[in-house]
This record gives sequence, structure tokens and C-alpha cells, in this order.
Amino acid sequence: MKILFIGDVVARAGRDALAKYLPEVRKELSPDVVIVNGENAAHGIGINDKICKEFFDMHVDVITLGNHAWDQREVIPYIEKEGRLVRPINYPEGTPGKGAYIHELSGGRKIMVINAMARLFMDPLDDPFAAVDKIVRAHPMGKAVNAIFLDFHGEATSEKMAMAHYLDGRVSAVIGTHTHIPTADSQILSGGTALQCDAGMTGDYNSVIGMKIDTPIIRFTRKLSMERLSPADGDGTMCGVYIETNDANGKAQKISAVRRGPRLLNA
Ligand SMILES: [Fe+2]
Ligand SMILES: [Fe+2]
Repeated sequence: MKILFIGDVVARAGRDALAKYLPEVRKELSPDVVIVNGENAAHGIGINDKICKEFFDMHVDVITLGNHAWDQREVIPYIEKEGRLVRPINYPEGTPGKGAYIHELSGGRKIMVINAMARLFMDPLDDPFAAVDKIVRAHPMGKAVNAIFLDFHGEATSEKMAMAHYLDGRVSAVIGTHTHIPTADSQILSGGTALQCDAGMTGDYNSVIGMKIDTPIIRFTRKLSMERLSPADGDGTMCGVYIETNDANGKAQKISAVRRGPRLLNA
């Protein structure tokens, strides 16, 4: 299965970059499934139903989230009825929405997309390792599904690497999100799980992780946070990861970084 994953789409610059570069990358790689992290799509914080529909109209199959999942309140009733919008699986019971979605391709092949949130330097949450382990055990690759993709949303590369090794051979890919900076560590572990600690954001890289530069500098240099962060609005770069898997056992055969746009070295 050919899987294209795009990292955190940040605000208008990110949405425009997605609209601009996704069609050309799709033409080049002809992915079977496209997954996008949309946690920052609406003005840098959260996502709403209108933007989800825009993404689905661009033939995005599944949207994942993160710590900004609920920043736009109107997404709460929407996520209850839209399974293709996936929030972190390790939120406490009773949280709206679901932490995984099984997407069926037109020929019948299935991929389970899971979103989980890390805990190091993040808000306290239920154990992501236990939560992912439970759902992965219930859906073995090669039997219940042809592939499993985990978007692991977190700050620390150590926790993301540990998750990938923990799941090695049991999921097709563990790709990190949240730091908004792509890491240069795309690899396939010995059991067949593809890993990249962060896919990077899709947004304006002439910024501080997608936000206009001045306010973050003030926040770091003085103990002032009166100024609100606002998203950078220059030309965006699209960042993501492309993975190919064996449909019979779900294991990864290929992983490469995808980067298109004016700021970073294109890949
Ligand atoms: Fe993000
Ligand atoms: Fe995040």
C-alpha cells in the first residue's frame, strides 16, 4: 500500500501549500491513501468542519489531530459523526470522537489510522503505549487490516522512537507530529515498522513553528505574554512522509521524506 502522510497543516499558509503541492505529489507518487494532520489548520489552532470538508474535497482520506483538537469548539459535534476525523486515542473515556479509523480502499484493502499523544513535555494524559497496544492487538496486520499507521503527536524524539520500537513489526509506520520541524531520520526498523520522529509542519517556515516571529521572541526574552500569537502568512512549504507497505503482512518496504515549497530543501 502506498501511504502519503502530511504533517501539521498550519493556518492559511499551510492550507494553501497543501492545495498547491498535494496534487503534484499525488501525480508523482499515486498514493492509495492520504492522511493529513489538521490540528493547526484553523488560524493555527484547531480545525473546524468547513476545513475538514475542504480537505476531504482534496481527496484526503483521514485527518488526524493532537493537543489542539478542541480549540475550535464547533468541531466537537462534528467529530461525533465524522469517523474520518481522528483524535488522540489516549484521551480519557467519554471524550468525543474516536482514536482510530479503518479506511477501506476501493479494492477492499484496509488501513487502520491511529492518532495518539505523547506525554513527555505535554499535558498529562492516559498512557499512549497501553492504548495503542490494545487496539493494535485487536487488529493484527495481514488478518484484520493490511496496514496500520500511527500519527504519534509529541514533543520528545525519545518517546516517539521508543513507541516505534515498542510496536516494531506490529504496525506499518510510526510517524511523529507536533514539533512542526521535520526530522532527518526516516528509517525502517528491523521488524518492518517505518519511523520518522517528526513529519514537519505544512506552513510558512519563515516563522517560529508557524507563528509570526515577533511575539515568540518577546515571550522568550521577557516575561510577557500579552501579545497573542498569530500565524505566519508567507508562502508555505508542505512536509510529510511517503511509505510503501507489503499488503500481505503490513510491513514497510520504503520510507522517504516529502518536502515541497520555497523554504526547506525539497525532497
Ligand atoms: Fe501542530
Ligand atoms: Fe500539537
